Amino acid sequence: MISVRSLCKRHGAREVLTGVTATVERGETIAIVGPSGGGKSTLLRCLNYLEGFDAGEIEIAGATLVPGLASADPVLRRLRSRVGMVFQQFNLFPHLTALGNITLAPRIVKRASRAAAEAAARALLARVGLADRAGSYPHELSGGQQQRVAIARALAQEPEVMLFDEPTSALDPEMRDDVMEVIRDLAKAGMTMLVVTHEMQFAHDIASRVWVIDRGTIAEDGPPAQVVDEPRTDVAREFFGRIRRTSP
Ligand SMILES: Nc1ncnc2c1ncn2[C@@H]1O[C@H](COP(=O)(O)OP(=O)(O)O)[C@@H](O)[C@H]1O
Ligand SMILES: [Mg+2]
Repeated sequence: MISVRSLCKRHGAREVLTGVTATVERGETIAIVGPSGGGKSTLLRCLNYLEGFDAGEIEIAGATLVPGLASADPVLRRLRSRVGMVFQQFNLFPHLTALGNITLAPRIVKRASRAAAEAAARALLARVGLADRAGSYPHELSGGQQQRVAIARALAQEPEVMLFDEPTSALDPEMRDDVMEVIRDLAKAGMTMLVVTHEMQFAHDIASRVWVIDRGTIAEDGPPAQVVDEPRTDVAREFFGRIRRTSP
């Protein structure tokens, strides 16, 4: 579903991704962890071509990405409907209800009828546990509820891949579980996902593989039983050791 080959990305003179190579099979859930500034967000943004890159190639959900694509390139249009992304900040449109946020892209991009888009949106709201909040505006929802609407909005495009960049980091602890539960259900339903997260329980119990990203490269890539329980690199040992010490 995803193949990344020798991906390099610079910001000015600084090399942010230094030759990332990796593959992800359909239905896998990859938990991405690692120290701040290591390049996790940059990698996700390259996968969705929110940022271009300097060298290498990405194949994702049938789209082939290379350096220097124009923003109007048809391959990017296809990419955006096949790859959904959810950020730390929910970025819902404040003047639209939950239903309005979720139906916007299907109605404009896929030219779905209002009735069809709303029926699909209501089903998605039920799936994320918010069947009764279709008419609520973002300011009437908690952070966790807003993030679940954002997930439903991404799913409305019927993506083949979902990318999550620290989806619970802006939330109070008591709201994180509801959001992680939705992501867990997606994993069980076979969605292909990359999830940047500090939730070690998720990485350990749900992910098919864990990537430790450090200084622009994948320092470790393996099943959680290997990477989390028996890390080989100092960065992974340090990272998981620190998480364990700070978790109750
Ligand atoms: N727009 C930018 N301009 C310059 N440097 C950037 C920019 N975005 C990210 N960086 C740098 O790239 C590196 C990787 O950042 P990022 O991908 O956000 O890391 P992570 O998500 O792992 O914390 C950091 O050193 C960061 O300062
Ligand atoms: Mg980041």
